[in-house]
Amino acid sequence: MTDKILLPEHIGIIMDGNGRWAKKRGLPRNMGHKKGAEVFEDISKYCKELGIKWLTVYAFSTENWRRPKEEVDGVMNLMRSYLKNMKKAANEHIAVRFIGDKTPFDEDLLRLMEEAENADVGEVITTVQIALNYGGRDEIVHAVKEIVNDIKAGKLSSEDISEESISARLYSGTPEADLIIRPSGEERLSNFLIWESAYSEFVFMDVLWPDFTRKDLDKAIEEYSRRNRRFGGL
Ligand code: FPP
Repeated sequence: MTDKILLPEHIGIIMDGNGRWAKKRGLPRNMGHKKGAEVFEDISKYCKELGIKWLTVYAFSTENWRRPKEEVDGVMNLMRSYLKNMKKAANEHIAVRFIGDKTPFDEDLLRLMEEAENADVGEVITTVQIALNYGGRDEIVHAVKEIVNDIKAGKLSSEDISEESISARLYSGTPEADLIIRPSGEERLSNFLIWESAYSEFVFMDVLWPDFTRKDLDKAIEEYSRRNRRFGGL
């Protein structure tokens, strides 16, 4: 990439198009997710090389449980292998966090998720947030419930409810997404980071996620950098 690029601090990616990628090749859908998981690993490393502070990826939404059991199990198993292989040196300086409702996951997956969140990765350059059983509306409902509980417990008064107090109770560790990328030609947010994207730049790309390369990320960042971000001001 050229100089004078304004790097986003927080990039969100909707990893879309895995199914279509597999179909085009006459492969089972889970092969698309497998290739998608490999691309995710490479893009996380590239974000670390670029010095991106936060990368949030949409891996499994609250709606994805409606897919066939074989596909759901396939995605969860990919998550297991990724977490088991995470100790590689290539993952140094990358912290991992999960955002979403963790309650329905199997015990062994929960343990792997916890181990990954607590792993010593040295100095953190990039925090990768994996949205798993995540929904933007569910995230807001969760924050509202916490606020009600805190009010009942006398820890918060209703006058103190503010954007900040809601932001602080979201699953996401960072309330603003600077750039949201959706590959695969779809131009929807699909319940991803709805609170965090109030001022995001959106870049929609025609490439399917399993074909997404470091060059595509460069292009999205260049597009982000070109746009004038005014946050509603003059
Ligand atoms: C959307 O594409 C993709 C998903 C629902 C799953 C994404 C999961 C991964 C990339 C693997 C996760 C694993 C790790 C380690 C992060 P789609 O299936 O809806 O594609 P389509 O629209 O072409 O059918």
